[in-house]
Amino acid sequence: MNLLRSRFAQAVLILIVAFVVLKFGIRPAAPWSVLTLYMAIVLLAVLVFVSSDSDSWRDFVWPIRATLVDPNRRLARLVFLIVLPLLFGYYAYTQAAAKPQAPPELRAVHPAPPASIQFRGKEIQITGLDNPLRKDQASYKKHVAAGAEIYIRNCMYCHGDNLDGRGHFAHGFNPPPANFQDPGTIAMLQEAFLFWRIAKGGPGLPKESTPWNSVMPAWEDRLTEEQTWQVIMYLYDATGQHPRRWEEGH
Ligand code: HEC
Repeated sequence: MNLLRSRFAQAVLILIVAFVVLKFGIRPAAPWSVLTLYMAIVLLAVLVFVSSDSDSWRDFVWPIRATLVDPNRRLARLVFLIVLPLLFGYYAYTQAAAKPQAPPELRAVHPAPPASIQFRGKEIQITGLDNPLRKDQASYKKHVAAGAEIYIRNCMYCHGDNLDGRGHFAHGFNPPPANFQDPGTIAMLQEAFLFWRIAKGGPGLPKESTPWNSVMPAWEDRLTEEQTWQVIMYLYDATGQHPRRWEEGH
């Protein structure tokens, strides 16, 4: 009980209780940055509390002072002299040491598309399919403009206003949104592949190579068949890429 009357012990106790409450009392767990912020506030409050008058302050610093100068606390000093640098050194080491990391997930980025899909209840043959809107060259500009609007409304915040996969939300996602400027995406795909991916999104990726963890939404219920082809035309027009053609005899 005597111990609890010591200001120093009280201060330490408050800090420990505060830490335990913040660390284990908050669900879902607060991140470390928040925890350290709260602990800094608690520490400040404790310092205000122990320094509220000079008796209290003297009481608080007494054990610290005694440990530093009392001749009969030699041993404690020696222990601190060895243990503290070791602790700090260990902490610095854990921060700087290379951590074992999970190997990057090997993910088939472009799985084979299904031969056909159900689009709003209608069967659409994917294999061999070309963008029907390209047949009518006269309305090319009109379709690209419509596609641009669709893109800005629905896709930009993930795929970015430069179509480079750096939209506002992109940083939160792994795998990141596709970068359409990159020759490794739409430039090596047929338009029908894009149609399938846009219609069915992440949920429509084949089961074999899970987990895909893709946040790419399925647009089937929000975009019509024509709108989907229009946004595809916009993707190619805006990036200057050309869709891959179906090989002869496919
Ligand atoms: C919530 C974020 C998000 C939105 C919104 C979004 N996408 Fe995606 N998209 C992704 C992510 C993440 C990927 C990469 C993972 C994957 O392939 O499923 C992706 C992949 C794609 C791909 C596949 C590219 C490739 O190389 O395989 C296409 C095509 C695509 N998106 C088109 C669109 C279009 C068109 C829209 C708007 C109608 C859109 N996306 C909206 C997140 C998004």
